[in-house]
Amino acid sequence: MCGIVGYIGQKEANGILIDGLKRMEYRGYDSAGIAVLDKGNIFSLKRVGKVAELARAQINFSYRGSIGIGHTRWATHGNVSECNAHPHLSTGGNFAIVHNGIVENYAQIKAFLIEKNYTFHSDTDTEVLVNLIDYHYQKAPCSYFAEIVRKTLLHIKGTYGIAVMSEIFANEIVIARKSSPLLIGLGEGENIIASDAAAVARYTKRVVYLNDGEVASVRSDNFLITTLHENTVDVVCHELDWEIHDMDLEGYPHYMLKEIFEQPSVIENAMRGRFTTDGCSTKFGGISLTPQELRAVDHLLFCACGSAYHACLEGKYLIEKYARIPVDVEHASEFRYRNAPFQRNTLVFVVSQSGETIDTLAALHEAKRRGYTVLGITNVVGSTIARATDAGIYQHAGLEMGVASTKAFASQITILSMLALLLARIRDMDTVVGVQYVQALKSLPVIIGEVLKLSNSIQLIAKKYHNYKRFLFLGRQAMYPVALEGALKLKEIAYVHAEAFPTAEMKHGPIALVSEGTVCLFIATQNELLDKTMNNIQEIKARGGKIIAIVNNNCIAREVCDEVLTIPEVHSGINPIVSIIPLQFFAYYVGILRGCDVDRPRNLAKSVTVE
Ligand code: F6R
Repeated sequence: MCGIVGYIGQKEANGILIDGLKRMEYRGYDSAGIAVLDKGNIFSLKRVGKVAELARAQINFSYRGSIGIGHTRWATHGNVSECNAHPHLSTGGNFAIVHNGIVENYAQIKAFLIEKNYTFHSDTDTEVLVNLIDYHYQKAPCSYFAEIVRKTLLHIKGTYGIAVMSEIFANEIVIARKSSPLLIGLGEGENIIASDAAAVARYTKRVVYLNDGEVASVRSDNFLITTLHENTVDVVCHELDWEIHDMDLEGYPHYMLKEIFEQPSVIENAMRGRFTTDGCSTKFGGISLTPQELRAVDHLLFCACGSAYHACLEGKYLIEKYARIPVDVEHASEFRYRNAPFQRNTLVFVVSQSGETIDTLAALHEAKRRGYTVLGITNVVGSTIARATDAGIYQHAGLEMGVASTKAFASQITILSMLALLLARIRDMDTVVGVQYVQALKSLPVIIGEVLKLSNSIQLIAKKYHNYKRFLFLGRQAMYPVALEGALKLKEIAYVHAEAFPTAEMKHGPIALVSEGTVCLFIATQNELLDKTMNNIQEIKARGGKIIAIVNNNCIAREVCDEVLTIPEVHSGINPIVSIIPLQFFAYYVGILRGCDVDRPRNLAKSVTVE
């Protein structure tokens, strides 16, 4: 989705803005632009397409300044064009704005402004915002920039993260947020504004996140945050836990491949410091509930979207199996509008890599409105969801640059498996079984390292099948969410139609799809129900479908399958984490062979901050 960056300090802003936009490219966009204040005047430069295009144009852009704003746009109102790209300037050019979100009442405001002789050059709702700011300034000139922006925002319905600069107020940038993330990266004699910490991490690790309904006036050496109604706010400074190398390819051709290979250390980071000293359970410093309070929980509800939703489904299998607590998993977008009844002692978890997904955030608010305690599992320190939950667990997976989640998904299911163990140990799991579970978790980095060695074999399989048009992913029990995630990866990365089903469901309809052009991927790594899975494999075979089976040392008849990938046989608490890796590779290689942009798949955004 769209990205915002802004710079105010002593250095030349142009390069820093372009660099910030590059850092946010992974979020998805279709045009980009910057505006700088040079000798008291605002000048803007915009291009359709990649930031590289803008960077090239910037070389001949003769305007330089040490205050500026920039934007990557993902079209919503108006097609992809230079005039619809941000920044937008007010009629007369006094103000410039970049905006993420949607102004819902833009049509009425536009009609009003046209009557007042404002002119419009784009189809965007954003141009309405910047002209309304100018209107408020012209109507009642005042010496407080933030005051004018505040007055304007009181008339806006919808969502926004904005950064505004002005020829009149040449020493500050005003930013404001409602349901669209914004932060201030704190530097020495300079401040960098962004909608994503990735844009500031190269310059500073100290960040202050804006909350909904807050407006900040940002200068080079200070900033002031107030609410829309001018109340003061307590400022909390967060320390980013990302490293610069998270943002570099480090020799890999794509972030997706790099992030698949990073999984041993990502999983190690998810586990670090989270085992009890007695070696038979886990602990999470971020969960504020006592064992007594956790013991009193009768039911768990997980809300998430996309891959994080699949991770939660995996959590359901593991928690129900080991801790014997009933678990429901809801798509956050459904839960937020659904009046679902839940037991009184329900504990709610929201899971979100970015911590900014709007539907997950809305589900969180809905659960809190109903009085539930809501815990979070997020990867981004200080993100909106991390701040809005009662407590939570950080993934520490590092910045995930590939749009399609790989390492963050693996880290989420690792944490959920550890949670299953914690909840089980509070209930009925005995010490010896707990020790075995802990040992299995601790062995994960080495085992994942082994599975990563299958990369070349999977590439060869991908070469054989990348032109097939239909893929079915099939798994039973805890391998069903793995199948769902594998199918999602293939859809996202290779634009191939892929569906996932619990293996036996195939007979209830999807088998009608099976013909010689169908590839069925069986995730057959669990030891239960293998004879049944074998029957299903035979049924596909009989109808001419191709079979790729992911197995361990079990009794699947390999000769029946077209391709067999063998992965280590492991404890069932970690089996899903090990089993997803081949499917990530498969999607990656099929995507590459089909000529897809695997790091930035079409139409997708890294964090979905609009409904
Ligand atoms: C899939 C993917 C998405 C996200 C989903 C939720 O590869 O990345 O499906 O999982 O948009 O995002 P977060 O976890 O940031 O809330």
